[in-house]
Amino acid sequence: MALDNKVQDAVIVAIDGPAGAGKSTIAKEVSKRLGFTYLDTGAMYRSLTLKALNQGINLEDEDALVDLAKQVHIDFCTDENHKLQVLLDGKDVTEDIRTSEVTNNTFYIACVVGVREIMVNRQREIGSTSNIVAEGRDIGTVVFPNAKRKFYLDANFEERAQRRIKELREKGKQIEADEIQNDLKERDTKDFTRKVGPLKKAEDAIVIDSTHMSIEQVVQKIIEVILHDG
Ligand code: DC
Repeated sequence: MALDNKVQDAVIVAIDGPAGAGKSTIAKEVSKRLGFTYLDTGAMYRSLTLKALNQGINLEDEDALVDLAKQVHIDFCTDENHKLQVLLDGKDVTEDIRTSEVTNNTFYIACVVGVREIMVNRQREIGSTSNIVAEGRDIGTVVFPNAKRKFYLDANFEERAQRRIKELREKGKQIEADEIQNDLKERDTKDFTRKVGPLKKAEDAIVIDSTHMSIEQVVQKIIEVILHDG
């Protein structure tokens, strides 16, 4: 591997795409193999949602959400087993931000202009300190428009829903397929139609349709492109 994780001239790899396309799994693996920092921007919106829910804040009160975003400290670290942890005001919330309640309420936070500005600034700050693989919805279009490489990871709706069902069942959760499909459809609509930071393919992004690809095939494809760049 020729790329050092040096601070100057940090290399940014952007991975955007809809929910269930496999961004997290792929971005984590690519960052591991390249020795880059993994930046999960969705975890930041989720963490703020969790904080708002815990504090009983009205999720339709945009001013209150912006105030909350100004105060919050969201950090990433790795535990002794090299597992990534998300810290909300110093507390490990890695699992707590994955509940359906958080998942289904994040859209309130994600559509507030003032909140996104704060989140984007924090993401840029993280991106200025090391080489990163960042995943989200607006990474290649808004957060890092000058990213060295941009990927738009997609998969058809059926496949994304199936992956989500499998993931939840592996965690021992029995949720009806219909419910998962409806949630996913709703998340897609919200992601694509948000006025600020919507999910959109950057013009210079490489599209990877992972519907019929294994995780390893997608990872290989991304690594090949990056190594080819030098
Ligand atoms: O990728 P994810 O499912 O963890 O994202 C959680 C939510 O955050 C999802 O509703 C979309 C939103 N999000 C966003 O608006 N912008 C990002 N850069 C990342 C996620």
